[in-house]
Amino acid sequence: MSHRIAAKITGVAGYLPPRIMTNADLEKIVDTNDEWIRTRTGIRERHVVDKGMASSHMATEAARQVLANTNTDPAEIDMIIVASVTPDMLFPATACLVQDHIGAKRAWGFDLSAACSGFAYALTVGAQFVGSGAHKKVLAIGSDAMTSILNYEDRATCVLFGDGAGAVLLEPAADGEGILDFEHDVDGSGGRYLHMPGGGSLHPPTHETVDKKMHYVHQEGSAVFKYAVRRMAELAAHVVERNGLKSEDIALVVPHQANLRIIRAMQERLGLPDERVMVNIDRYGNTTGGTIPLGLRDAVEQQKLKKGDLVLLMAVGAGYTTGSVLLRWAY
Ligand code: UT7
Repeated sequence: MSHRIAAKITGVAGYLPPRIMTNADLEKIVDTNDEWIRTRTGIRERHVVDKGMASSHMATEAARQVLANTNTDPAEIDMIIVASVTPDMLFPATACLVQDHIGAKRAWGFDLSAACSGFAYALTVGAQFVGSGAHKKVLAIGSDAMTSILNYEDRATCVLFGDGAGAVLLEPAADGEGILDFEHDVDGSGGRYLHMPGGGSLHPPTHETVDKKMHYVHQEGSAVFKYAVRRMAELAAHVVERNGLKSEDIALVVPHQANLRIIRAMQERLGLPDERVMVNIDRYGNTTGGTIPLGLRDAVEQQKLKKGDLVLLMAVGAGYTTGSVLLRWAY
């Protein structure tokens, strides 16, 4: 059974820090090369924050832009959800910092941790409050400064990620528009394959945790790769089928951008042509919470979306978490 929510996206915006790190720049830091990175991941360059810029700052820029795009007064915002695995600090929540920065005086909010599926989770959770009638305007934001947790001595992870944020405004929808379905799941047995072991209550920061490089991303790439290829394709096909649709009914798939090969495997399973699958991993790398809203932003800017189009958002990430949202584009 599909899950309809009477909520729609009425605006989208993104923010990427101005500094760009190319594959050639990485060649100077770690034993890697442009050809390996391009052919194994699809990435050419990524944006990176300078010292002093954190997830809240990128989230704030994206939020301000979406408010401007939709002519929304910050005081009208009811709720702010920030999906991030790189919050400025463990607490207060990044959502509280954003609430203050943008002057959303009436809004409550919180952070949500679901790694690469984080934005899809935030969208579904935020939409519930709109669909229930409790709220009229909710900001769902994905923001990650992944470079703050990368080990630039580990070539298998440091080349994959970039920094960035995206935000959408959610508002009440008429029947048949907005979010038509969502599907999320967790397979916690996959937690050990992609994690940051240090800094939480299990391994609080000590000299030892720093020496052992526990405050960085640790990943068993091939295990995550296999899981992501299988689940992205399975879940996309499942959501399409259970809504009585065919792949060709989907105007655009906006997938999480972790590896171009994962995206192409899903695309092949659905039998979709390149122009119906949003790809920007070449320029941004994997921005974790930022990938899907940045994909939506680029799709709008490139006029790939028009009112009434069916859009499928897809993500798989650490946890393992998966997220899929089917929506009818509303503007
Ligand atoms: O968004 C969160 C979810 N994350 C993901 O979805 C990531 C999933 N995993 C992946 O995308 C891929 O597994 C990677 C891109 C991380 C790795 O690609 P792979 O095809 O699975 O390569 P591999 O890990 O099997 O490594 C193949 C070789 C190894 O060398 P040997 O042992 O064959 O001599 C690695 O040491 O490639 C080597 N290698 C590199 N070489 C140059 C690994 N990283 C690099 C590098 N530059 N940056």
